Amino acid sequence: MKRLQEKMKQDGRVLSEHVLKVDSFLNHQIDPLLMKEIGEEFANRFASEKITKIVTLESSGIAPSVMTGLVLGVPVVFARKRQSLTMTDDLLTANVYSFTKETANRIAVSNAFLSVDDHVLIIDDFLANGQAALGLIDIVRQAGSSIAGVGIVIEKSFQNGAQLLEQEGIRVESLARIGSLKEGEIQFKEEGPQ
Ligand code: G4P
Ligand code: NA
Ligand code: NA
Repeated sequence: MKRLQEKMKQDGRVLSEHVLKVDSFLNHQIDPLLMKEIGEEFANRFASEKITKIVTLESSGIAPSVMTGLVLGVPVVFARKRQSLTMTDDLLTANVYSFTKETANRIAVSNAFLSVDDHVLIIDDFLANGQAALGLIDIVRQAGSSIAGVGIVIEKSFQNGAQLLEQEGIRVESLARIGSLKEGEIQFKEEGPQ
């Protein structure tokens, strides 16, 4: 997605060979117009699927998910990282391991919001090692819902998340794919040798 790539080049900051900071439009301040276009793009890419629900993870997955849900006219469910006081229903949970933080965290969705009749699009802001996406897939499968695929705003293709998901037979649609962050530069996968 051209406009997203331009925004990443313009406003993103390469913090290391592994991390791109995009706090000014995705992870802290949010650019609603860009999010709207992202929502339209995800909706287009999954137009042939009869999506009934979007599932994401708080917090940065929520903005692109809500925009997609608006276009598709379906609800958005976000998995919680912290248990809320009012979350007293049956919970579907998964453990998500973070390689960066070297910790495992439980994520949870109320069983009430997913059913065997749902056909789910999973969305997240970043795809790195794929552990968050795998946790969401686990939860959606526990509910008995089917999965149309995973929509990712920024995929870091030099990490193994996309490969892991594709090995699971999951369709992955990433709007920007980073091939490398070496020498302080974003190189998109499409630009360089495949
Ligand atoms: P990791 O082990 O490969 O780091 O993956 P993990 O899923 O644990 O990522 C930890 C957090 O860092 C996630 O956000 C993820 O989206 C984010 N992340 C991973 N790589 C990058 C990157 O290159 N740039 C940015 N900006 N974020 C990245 P989170 O903790 O769930 O935060 P939030 O969703 O609440 O904002
Ligand atoms: Na995230
Ligand atoms: Na359910």
